[in-house]
Amino acid sequence: MRRKTAILISGRGSNMQALIEAAGDPDYPAEIALVISSRPGAPGLKIARGHGVKTRTIDHRRFKTREDFEAALNKALEKAGVDLVCLAGFMRLLTEGFVKHWQGRLINIHPSLLPAFRGIDTHARALAAGVKIAGCTVHFVRPEMDSGPIVMQAAVPVLPDDTADTLAARVLAAEHRVYPAALRLVASGRARAVGELVVIDGCLGEGAPLYSPPVE
Ligand code: GRF
Repeated sequence: MRRKTAILISGRGSNMQALIEAAGDPDYPAEIALVISSRPGAPGLKIARGHGVKTRTIDHRRFKTREDFEAALNKALEKAGVDLVCLAGFMRLLTEGFVKHWQGRLINIHPSLLPAFRGIDTHARALAAGVKIAGCTVHFVRPEMDSGPIVMQAAVPVLPDDTADTLAARVLAAEHRVYPAALRLVASGRARAVGELVVIDGCLGEGAPLYSPPVE
């Protein structure tokens, strides 16, 4: 049984698109049942509809409190029979109540190697810190911003001439690979949070080390 999954967005939706495309394979363990945008006219909505995915806009500005906004989110998610939720560039902080309700079934992607560089402007801050490796993280969501058990990370080198934009583009390409792979692990039940760590069943292979700058 494919897990019914919703993606919550606020903007561009490129990670959402990567997830929708991965779920186009009938063997993928998640099916994208719904895309919800917190912003009317988010470009991602059009992309989702173009792939035949049902969309909803739930404009956070129409609600007095965060709780009211989240009650509307939950109503839409339940109506669609959703069992897993992916945040993909969703620009609203979620309350502890919402996060607890979805605990173990709510994941996010963040454009840094967490726990470094939580919050916004990650690439500019990574460059200012002089790190030689940057990357992205898919994690189960906890009430504190950009924290929670890590499912998967991808590393990319920081190059000498990088600007925040060129680094962001390199990290984004990695995000588009890592998010579908992480959702596959979570939806199939191979990855689950045990306390604050993620346990993954079965062998994942060794992976290759990334040296940056390359070792001569
Ligand atoms: C991505 O960099 C994601 O990691 C961050 O917000 C950005 C969203 O981009 N949380 P997109 O909407 O998926 O294109």
